[in-house]
Amino acid sequence: MSNKVTKSEFIEVKKTKDTIIEYSNGEVTIFWQPEKCIHSANCLLGLPEVFNPKKKPWINVHASNSKEIMRVIDTCPSRAITYLKSAKFVTSKPRETPKKKAKFARIQITKNGPALVTGNFIVRDAMKKKIQIEGEIAAICCCGQSRKKPFCDGSHITVGSTD
Ligand code: SF4
Ligand code: FES
Repeated sequence: MSNKVTKSEFIEVKKTKDTIIEYSNGEVTIFWQPEKCIHSANCLLGLPEVFNPKKKPWINVHASNSKEIMRVIDTCPSRAITYLKSAKFVTSKPRETPKKKAKFARIQITKNGPALVTGNFIVRDAMKKKIQIEGEIAAICCCGQSRKKPFCDGSHITVGSTD
């Protein structure tokens, strides 16, 4: 999974009301969207020197190299952390081939947490209106406690869900 965003994708995200905090080391800019975090802890386990909630700011973009930071951000299941490579950094790397759109949807039930839906899918509300999803991933609340239903907002941690 890639959590890389392009400049135009980022402009779209900025149009939403979500809080976005940016951290940059000149090569890569990390975007942190707290409302999207489902507290899977992949970032803390993958690179504790960079992602440490006990510190302020909790992301230290200078504590590792850009390649490692991007590798760990790509493991964030909810896209609460994404990144944009700077033009300088992009030209020093070979161009990536465009990703093919997935044919199917996959649903991964996480332990005591949300159901992660990835691939090709659409989410509609009770009125059958399409809900805009960013990227090809959605974390659907399974504990019933989210204030952002149908999406997970991390409340399963606070309520100690054991579903
Ligand atoms: S959802 Fe993403 S940002 Fe939140 S703890 Fe997990 S990996 Fe980190
Ligand atoms: S599963 Fe995360 S808030 Fe319900």
